[in-house]
Amino acid sequence: MEKLKVMIIGCGRVASKHLKAIEKNKDRVELKALVDVSEEAARKLSPGTPFYKDYKQAIEEVKPDIVAVTVPSGLHYEIAVYAMKNGCNLLLEKPMSMSSNESREIYELSKATGKKIAMGHIYRYFPIVGLVHDDIKAGRFGKVTHGSIFVRWGHGDDYYGSAAWRGTWKSDGGALMNQTIHAIDLLVWLMGSSPVEAASMISQRKAHIEADDLGMAILKMDDGSLASIEGTTCTPENDHAAEFTVFCENGVITMGIRRGKPSVNIRDGKGKKLNGSYIMRQIRKSGPGSLLGALNPHTAIYSDLIEAIDNDRQPVADAYAGYTSVDNLMGIYKAAKLGETVKLPLDEDFSSEDMKGYFESKGS
Ligand SMILES: NC(=O)c1ccc[n+]([C@@H]2O[C@H](COP(=O)([O-])OP(=O)(O)OC[C@H]3O[C@@H](n4cnc5c(N)ncnc54)[C@H](O)[C@@H]3O)[C@@H](O)[C@H]2O)c1
Repeated sequence: MEKLKVMIIGCGRVASKHLKAIEKNKDRVELKALVDVSEEAARKLSPGTPFYKDYKQAIEEVKPDIVAVTVPSGLHYEIAVYAMKNGCNLLLEKPMSMSSNESREIYELSKATGKKIAMGHIYRYFPIVGLVHDDIKAGRFGKVTHGSIFVRWGHGDDYYGSAAWRGTWKSDGGALMNQTIHAIDLLVWLMGSSPVEAASMISQRKAHIEADDLGMAILKMDDGSLASIEGTTCTPENDHAAEFTVFCENGVITMGIRRGKPSVNIRDGKGKKLNGSYIMRQIRKSGPGSLLGALNPHTAIYSDLIEAIDNDRQPVADAYAGYTSVDNLMGIYKAAKLGETVKLPLDEDFSSEDMKGYFESKGS
């Protein structure tokens, strides 16, 4: 089978994870070009790879099968639309875009063109998570009563000062939009229902940024279950932790990661631990190496996208996931702005930029 041609647009922090993932999938994909407005960034990432400054020229000349969109979030929309219209599948970093309408447009374009989008929603690709998802969906744990997540991903001024776009409403959003969107996507996917209402509050406690560094929200789902969300970058930088729990009639599932170390606690309705059987099933399904998948989930995202293209199916974290997670997030921000609950899905556009001035007018 001919290898799929990959191009990375944006050669910063996350691009190095893409590079490793492409290398791990080198029997099926080949990195053909890098694009960045900074030649230095591209050379630092991979000195020998052909380099372009202009993504349009690069797409025209290289005609990649897959474009990895790893530029600041505020640029995702224009590049995603251009690349799909020019025949490319996407590995699109999160968040899909900065507004609900833009994200819906990207999702609709993916349907219209048949081009696949795998979102950089890494948590869906952690080991065991897929098995838990399938079991909840099949009813193994009975009805879902509620779910919760926390993302305590501390970042200091060094991180926020490392690029001008970080922490701005226009190009990044805050702790909820950048760090927590993975977990919001995951929780909604695992619970297997759709949010119909959002309530939330956001704050600025520590970081010197325009957007939130702390947010808490509640989603009401269409089956009556509730989801609680806590996301922050205020916690210590050397103690990154994220965790979800899904509570069901006949079991409780908790999984998380702290200081790079994953943890699992899956119990049935009588409190019996099921961890061992899930680990064995993961090994049987994808081999023992797959248990290390949390170390670079981008490898699993590339494998999934390649299979999705080969077999004409949707990736695990597809365009719909990208659109709905932005729509939910925009509902959460809108609820904070209005100080009232907001119906989901949104019936009119809301963008991260609509939050501009929020902290100036309300105080943190
Ligand atoms: N899935 C994940 O785990 C994960 C982790 C980190 C970041 N991200 C996402 O990845 C994206 C990039 O984040 P980052 O931390 O790597 O950012 P970064 O600032 O480190 O890198 C962005 C790069 O894009 C380049 N760039 C800017 N404008 C460009 C343009 N018009 N054309 C080409 N290149 C351009 C910059 O020069 C820079 O090298 C963001 O959307 C972020 O939310 C995802």
